[in-house]
Amino acid sequence: MNTRAQEAAGNLLARHREITGPRTFRLLGLEWDLLPGVYAPHLAQSSALYAEWIPYPLFGSFCEVGSGTGYIAVTAALRGCAEVAAIDMSRAAADNTRRNAERHGVADRVRVSCGDMFEPLGGDERFDMIYWNSNFVEAPAGEASADDLDRAFFDPGYAAHEAYLAGAAARLHPGGRLLLGFTDLGNASLIDEIAVRHGWRQVTLRAAECLAPQGRINYRLIEFLRA
Ligand SMILES: C[S@@+](CC[C@H](N)C(=O)[O-])C[C@H]1O[C@@H](n2cnc3c(N)ncnc32)[C@H](O)[C@@H]1O
Repeated sequence: MNTRAQEAAGNLLARHREITGPRTFRLLGLEWDLLPGVYAPHLAQSSALYAEWIPYPLFGSFCEVGSGTGYIAVTAALRGCAEVAAIDMSRAAADNTRRNAERHGVADRVRVSCGDMFEPLGGDERFDMIYWNSNFVEAPAGEASADDLDRAFFDPGYAAHEAYLAGAAARLHPGGRLLLGFTDLGNASLIDEIAVRHGWRQVTLRAAECLAPQGRINYRLIEFLRA
């Protein structure tokens, strides 16, 4: 396990646990709702980067796995996606995404579901783009998550990453694009291994290095292409 990643996630997780009631935050020049127990994007430098880097498919369909507060799903709708599906396994995150879709007037285009990975989708549902800002900190395989917040940071054995790369191909239109927000605190070689196993190769679409309390962190928007 990567101790730098464990420390960085532990610090950020502790800041999240201080949030005990609903509040709002500002990001991308807009005000957003935040519910306790949901990943708080304004506390991470990566959030604004990913939001600006994603090449949202204009008039197309966009699926966000692990939508959290929903700021990316809502931004996709505000930036011209015709249909957005937002999925999160945390009930609080799904409620939070719904609130932000309503707050920004796009609830008619952002369909929110609570469930595991692609499981809530209809049998033949496909998208022009699928995106996930993942819980990239690797935890020991089989380790039980303490709660939803814990699951927003840690992925035991990278089982969720495996499910993402195993299930995405069946959820993309021909020519559809598969993206992942990732950092050098995650296990890049394991992601590579899982990707190859499921017929993908990865390219870095955008990258930036930011200074954090734990030192420099490299953020990447990865695109997976069929190998
Ligand atoms: C790092 S947070 C990102 C939240 C949000 N997309 C953002 O950028 O602020 C990861 C999110 O993925 C969700 N998640 C983790 N595993 C999941 C799974 N198997 N299915 C659906 N959502 C999952 C977590 O609940 C959490 O909200």
